[in-house]
This record gives sequence, C-alpha cells and structure tokens, in this order.
Amino acid sequence: MMSLAGIKTIKDLDLENQRLFLRVDFNVPLDKKTGEITDDARIRAALPTIEYAMEAGARVILASHLGRPKGERVPSMSLEPVGARLAELLNVDVLFPEDCIGDAPKKLINEMRGKQIVLLENVRFHAEETQNDEAFARQLLELCDAYVNDAFGSSHRAHASVHALPRLLQNRACGFLLQAEIEKLGKIVTNPDKPYLAVLGGAKVSDKIAVVESLLNLVDALVIGGAMANTFLKALGKDTKASKVEEDKLALARTIVEKAKDKNVDLILPEDVVVAADINATQGITVDAGAIPDGQMALDIGPKTVARIEAVCRSSKSIFWNGPMGMFENPAFASGTFAVARAMAATKAFTVVGGGDSASAVRKAGDDIASAFTHISTGGGASLELVEGRKLPGIEVLRFIEA
Ligand code: 3PG
Repeated sequence: MMSLAGIKTIKDLDLENQRLFLRVDFNVPLDKKTGEITDDARIRAALPTIEYAMEAGARVILASHLGRPKGERVPSMSLEPVGARLAELLNVDVLFPEDCIGDAPKKLINEMRGKQIVLLENVRFHAEETQNDEAFARQLLELCDAYVNDAFGSSHRAHASVHALPRLLQNRACGFLLQAEIEKLGKIVTNPDKPYLAVLGGAKVSDKIAVVESLLNLVDALVIGGAMANTFLKALGKDTKASKVEEDKLALARTIVEKAKDKNVDLILPEDVVVAADINATQGITVDAGAIPDGQMALDIGPKTVARIEAVCRSSKSIFWNGPMGMFENPAFASGTFAVARAMAATKAFTVVGGGDSASAVRKAGDDIASAFTHISTGGGASLELVEGRKLPGIEVLRFIEA
C-alpha cells in the first residue's frame, strides 16, 4: 500500500534558522557537446519546496547526484550548470562549494545569509554515496539540522543521501514534489478509478516485465506499443521483418498474452505501423502490422492503432502511461507518441505519466498538452518500481510508523 501514512511533510517541520538538507533529483540531461541543460523539468519541479523552505526561514542546502561518476570527480558531471540555472529560476545567489562534505560546504553554510542557498557538489563523486555508507552519511549530517527528501527520481536507490542520512535524523520529511508523486502514483497503484487503462511502450519487454505483471492485476485494458510491441507481434506469428525484436522474450510475450486473456484484460497491440529501412529515415510508410515489407522495420504506430487508443482513452477513468510508441526522437516517427499524448490530455480521466522518455514526449507535445495531465512523474526507474508495487527505500525511511 503506497501512501503517505507515517510520513511528515515539510510543513510539519519548524524550519526557522534550521540548516535544511534538501535532497533533490537534479540528474538532468546535458548536451554532450555544449554541456548545456537540455531539459530542466526536474529543477523546476523542486522549486516550490525550495521556495517554501526559504520563506520558512531555513538555510537551504541542496544535494543531488548527476550521472553515474562511480566515485570519481568527473568534471562533465559537476552540478555547476545546474547551480547557474537555479540562480536564474529563483533569482537568488547559489553558493557552490567544491565538495559535498568537509570544510568547504561547512564554511559556506555558516556564512550564508538571506536570498542565498547552497548547492553541494555531486554526491556521487564519493563512492560511499552509492554504498549507502553510514560514516559518509554522518559527514553529511554535520551540515544539517533537518532533512527533506524531494528527490522522487532517486528514491528507489538505497544511497547515503537518500537512505542512510535520513535514518539518522528525527527532523525528516517529504517535500511537495515527493508528496505529489506518492499521492498520484499511489492512487494509480492502490485504488484507481475504473475503467483503468495502461499504455506501455519503449524499447524492451525485459525492462517492463515486472510492471506488466503487476498492471495485469489492476487494469481493464493494456496497450503495448513502441519497439517492445514487435516482440509481441512476432510471438503471435506476425513477420516483423527487420524490426527490433527480443528473440529470447518471445515465450514470455506469449505468456503475457495468455495472462491478459485469463484476467479479462483487453490487450491492444499495434494493428498498423509506420515502417522504414532505418531509424534515421526522413519519412516512413504505413502498413498493416502483418504486412511489413522486406528490409523494413516498425518505428511508430499507425493511424488505425492511434484511433483504437483514442477510443479506449475516451472510455477510461484512470490512465497510466510509460514509454513512447515509437522512435519519437526522429520527427518522422513521432506522430503516434504525440497523438497518444493528445488523446490522454483530451480526457477527464486521472492521467499519470511515468517519467523518462514518455514525460519528455508529453512536454514536447506542447505546454497545453502537458498541463492537461493530472501528473507527470519526475521519476523514471522510481515510478516503474512504485507501479510494480515495490517499496522504495528513500520513501520508507521517512516513515515514523510502518505503512
Ligand atoms: C534517474 O534519472 O532515473 C534518477 O536520477 C536515478 O538515476 P540512477 O538510475 O543513475 O540512479
């Protein structure tokens, strides 16, 4: 049962003059060549909590990881560009010590004044972070009096700044973003309004097995699109030609089809697909899913499939979406994914998008589309684990009583 039971929220903490360690997930995508932030949604999503904490009189110390530096100081994974973006968005001074532990952050925290915040350097520059090391957590503890987790995207990791540190503090709570994630995803997992539709896409069946298994117990209809649909189509006897297929998952796909039948779940696979000879093609052609020409691969869902998804969206009261319907990074194969985003946005259903690619697809579909969703999660792996019904260490550690 995923809920806020036994978890304080930031509003329950007395923050006046307190040094607040605010764990955020600023693991944002950076342009490989220029190092610029290409999507700042995770930074924006944390702003309400940061602003609230500042207004409540806290001395705000932000901590995050960026990338997977494996305990090394990797300059391209520095949080410095994030600090610059944050300063613009909040119109405050962002003080940036060269490390997340030791004298450098202590000095800045002692000297900080109003309209200033501290952003610690990437916590994963220390291997102890991912080892959930208690001695490292105690060094972080030296910096603070209170702890708030607003890093939903990292809450499935038992890492020191997410797990070992809050365990050491009574003054611990969730921020507004984490609260919203628990409430919205919790509803979709525990008591969704019916009929309930889940739409899954993305590259691999293997990434989604656990989530499919758990959704089959909850949903009335399940759409499978994206490259993972190819494995299902092949498993059902269609010749997928040059399409990407996980040959070792064909039996599993057949089992899922059988389970869906047993549980009376309407399993919707692509009826038609947009194909091309390679992923960089500038144009595709639409064909029936069983009539892909030699040498061609399915790269998007076609209009008949879109119409079917639109219809099931209209009759659903809850919708969960994770994973694009095709290679939407290439505009030639983005129509299906954007059409699904529009179809969901047009309903009055409780619509939740799991993070990662589908969240960025919704944002790319336009501001009006994105704002029509009930909730767009900031967590990729974290939202999937939550929908699988797993307990997330970063959330469980905040509880004062077991849920
Ligand atoms: C994410 O981007 O999903 C989170 O920031 C977690 O990152 P990780 O998979 O490197 O732990």
